[in-house]
Amino acid sequence: MAEEIFVSPKKRGRIAVFLSGRGSNFRAIHAAIQAGRINAGISLVFSNIEAAPGLQTAREEGLETLYLNPKLYASREEYDKAAVREVRKRDVDLVCLAGYMRILSPYFCREFKNRCMNIHPALLPSFPGLHVQQKAIDWGVRFSGATVHFVAEEVDMGPIILQAMVPVLQDDTEETLAARILVEEHKIYPRSVQLFFEGRIEVRGRRVFIRET
Ligand code: GAR
Repeated sequence: MAEEIFVSPKKRGRIAVFLSGRGSNFRAIHAAIQAGRINAGISLVFSNIEAAPGLQTAREEGLETLYLNPKLYASREEYDKAAVREVRKRDVDLVCLAGYMRILSPYFCREFKNRCMNIHPALLPSFPGLHVQQKAIDWGVRFSGATVHFVAEEVDMGPIILQAMVPVLQDDTEETLAARILVEEHKIYPRSVQLFFEGRIEVRGRRVFIRET
């Protein structure tokens, strides 16, 4: 069977950001858009948490926001179907998960295959899941970092777009390591989104190639 190849679109794009918390990665992407580095606009900021500070920031920035209450849906898939409908209504090209702490259904992952990115605060495939900065310290690794990847059905395991590395220091706590990693997150997430809308991302199987301009 011929290998399936995906090439990201080269056009002014439309982004939906999904978040559950403070939204610093959302703010980094938004800032890169405002600085003219990303050829796209944020059409929707979506959350599963009504009081997410990131939603408030988005409102203050004049962006459209939407909260859907997971308790009102019979299943994870029903919830995701509603989310997909809202995203589709806005003709979105790319979904950016930015601290969206809700596992997506296989349905959502299939609908947005190679069109949904996530940022994770570890060097995947090491340390998937939660509390990964503490896990990196406890394991004794000398380096950790951040990963931007496309979302696939297996959590935290989709094709890797960019990674950045930071040292793990002897006196690190979960908080100090998380803060050092976050600085890198704010660089590689906007950069990945920029590459996407420059039409420079090519996915072959589970490998991502960055095309030269
Ligand atoms: C970030 O560190 C992000 O990598 C992490 O949540 C934080 C969100 O911060 N995401 C995950 O752990 C996903 N598995 P933010 O709301 O300030 O962007």
